[in-house]
This record gives sequence, structure tokens and C-alpha cells, in this order.
Amino acid sequence: MEKINIAIDGPAAAGKSTVAKKVAEALHYTYIDTGAMYRAATYLALKNHANLDDEREILALLKQAPISLSYTDDAQHIFLGEVDVTDAIRTDDVSNNVSLVATHKGVRREMVKIQRELIKQAGVVMDGRDIGTHVIPDAAVKIFMIASVDERAERRYKENLAKGYEADLEAIKADIRQRDKIDQEREVSPLVKASDAIELDTTSQSIDEVKNEILAIVKEKV
Ligand code: C5P
Repeated sequence: MEKINIAIDGPAAAGKSTVAKKVAEALHYTYIDTGAMYRAATYLALKNHANLDDEREILALLKQAPISLSYTDDAQHIFLGEVDVTDAIRTDDVSNNVSLVATHKGVRREMVKIQRELIKQAGVVMDGRDIGTHVIPDAAVKIFMIASVDERAERRYKENLAKGYEADLEAIKADIRQRDKIDQEREVSPLVKASDAIELDTTSQSIDEVKNEILAIVKEKV
């Protein structure tokens, strides 16, 4: 069967990565989490006490420790130079600062360069904020996934508790609101639905329902 590229965008914690992973699995495609790249850049900047407003400082650090991905055990692993930072990029500190780092034009240019290399071979499910609008404007399927802030916060809260992390529902809500605002209002590649994207409101849907809906959309295209 012909392989296509699938773009999944939407606000923070809308369930994109969980669903995208399952869609990729069902189609035997590669899942690419682009948020992890912005998180890795943020982790690197924080670790080196860089000024997060200074994109040149962040870019210089990325030159010394370039971002790369590997799929050795079927899950995406992200590296800074030789160091696997897959787990380290999930802290609150990174979450609270990533949207600021993602406003920088030069940082975005570097991330998009890596992302476009990865889509050269079709058969990719890529999730993020600007995939359908900017990274893969010709993606055969574009999904824009939304859900209410309350629902998204609740899901993230339960996820954190299940992982054994401490969780504060109100703090999660505030983080989601703040990240959405910065992502929607930034100048370069803001979070916006592509004109040809299909919007899916997942507020009252299960992961499998959303996955099946996307698989049905894909089936019409291939
Ligand atoms: O997907 P995730 O929530 O991990 O993304 C973290 C942050 O990275 C987002 O809030 C956004 O600021 C940034 N991001 C972006 N463009 C993407 C993916 C993520 O600006 N394609």
C-alpha cells in the first residue's frame, strides 16, 4: 500500500502523542514527536543556565550537542549529542519554559531542518503545532486535535499520578493555558489549524475512538 505522511497538530495535552503513536503502530509508520525536540533544546538551555531570551546562546549550545532521534526499541529516543534525554525533558521546569524557547525563529529553523529530513521517506505520523501549516504543508492527511482545557488538564493529571509523579490539577491547568497562549500568539509558525486540516474534538472520546476515526480518514486517501 502506498505510504503517506500524516500531520497531527493541536494545543498542549490534547492527546496528540498517545493517538499518533497508536495510529503509527496500526499503519506500521514511524511516529515523530516534534515537541520532544523543542523540549530537548529547552533542557539543554536550562542545564547550561543560558538566557532563554537569547536565541544565539541556545543555538550555540545546540551546535555543541546536536539533537538526534533513534528508534531502536520502537519508541522514540531523543539525544543531545551522545546523551539520551528522553526522560529528562519531561520535567515541569522544561514544560514551563519550552514555549518561550519555541518562539525563537532560529531555533525553529533548526528543528524544522531535522523534521524535514525525517519525512523524506513517507510513512510518518508527525505531531506538533506547525506540522500541517509549515513542516509538511503537502501532508496527505492533516488532523487538528482539540479538547477542552478541563479535559486536557484532567488527563495530564491522571497520567502523572499513574506514573507516580506528584500532580497539581490547578497548576497543570495554568501551564496548559499559558503554553497555548504563547504558542498561538508567537510570530513564527504559530499554533493554528491548517485550512485543509480536519478538526477532531476529543473531549468526550476515548483514545481508540479517535485512533479509529483517523485510520478511517487515512483509508480514504491510500
Ligand atoms: O508537544 P509538547 O507539548 O511536548 O510540546 C512542547 C512545546 O513545544 C509546545 O508547547 C510548543 O511550545 C513547542 N512546539 C512547537 N512546535 C512544534 C511542537 C512543539 O512550538 N511542532
